[in-house]
Amino acid sequence: MLASLGRRLVSATCQQVRSLHRTVPACSDKLFVHRDTPENNPDTPFEFTQENLARCEVIIKNYPEGHQAAAVIPILDLAQRQHGWLPISAMHKVADMLKMPYMRVYEVATFYTMFNREPVGKFFVQICTTTPCMLGGVGSDAILAAIQRILGIKVGETTKDGMFTLAEVECLGACVNAPMVQINDDYYEDLTVPDIERILTYLKEGKKPKPGPQGGQGNRFASEPKTGLTSLTTPPTGPGFGVRKDL
Ligand code: FES
Repeated sequence: MLASLGRRLVSATCQQVRSLHRTVPACSDKLFVHRDTPENNPDTPFEFTQENLARCEVIIKNYPEGHQAAAVIPILDLAQRQHGWLPISAMHKVADMLKMPYMRVYEVATFYTMFNREPVGKFFVQICTTTPCMLGGVGSDAILAAIQRILGIKVGETTKDGMFTLAEVECLGACVNAPMVQINDDYYEDLTVPDIERILTYLKEGKKPKPGPQGGQGNRFASEPKTGLTSLTTPPTGPGFGVRKDL
């Protein structure tokens, strides 16, 4: 009897854990394992452009002699920006450049989810589904459903034309304006379903949607109230401001 109760408890807990931790990275070993494929293997062509080689030199000089390995993240990022994603051949190039064992570079590239070790579309759409985004505004479930409907793909997939890849991610640090998505380097916040429809339509049409918070009056810049400022409405009067001229 006790054993059966225990089994049911364990099973209920497992189901709960599974429903909470449902993002692609948490359910997959893709992040940690490399298998050679025709498009991603040590012979995949990758060379830094002359322009990016010059950038690498500047980045490496930021670090003291003997500590060049500290440049691994910005240089991997540069390789990814140049290639569109990060093949294993680019990791090897970076390791050779920084005189690091390949394994040290693999460790970095597999730890940070900002590195895409598989090809992604021209627009990499990352939707945050962590609690504040799940609960904020219309909620990330509605935004995710809208993205999937508009693009015709599910999480982890790329559209057939190679334009969009959709990923589900954990908190991206813009919870105050939840729900939000990141598309390439831009954040789109305070989203409603019509907002995300407009943003994706703009991108499909080759137009640039306005990044940042989408709701509120006028040109809302950050997390000000949607109805306009209620404080800090005049220039600051701290040290150096409003000093009496007669003193
Ligand atoms: S929870 Fe979505 S940005 Fe923090």
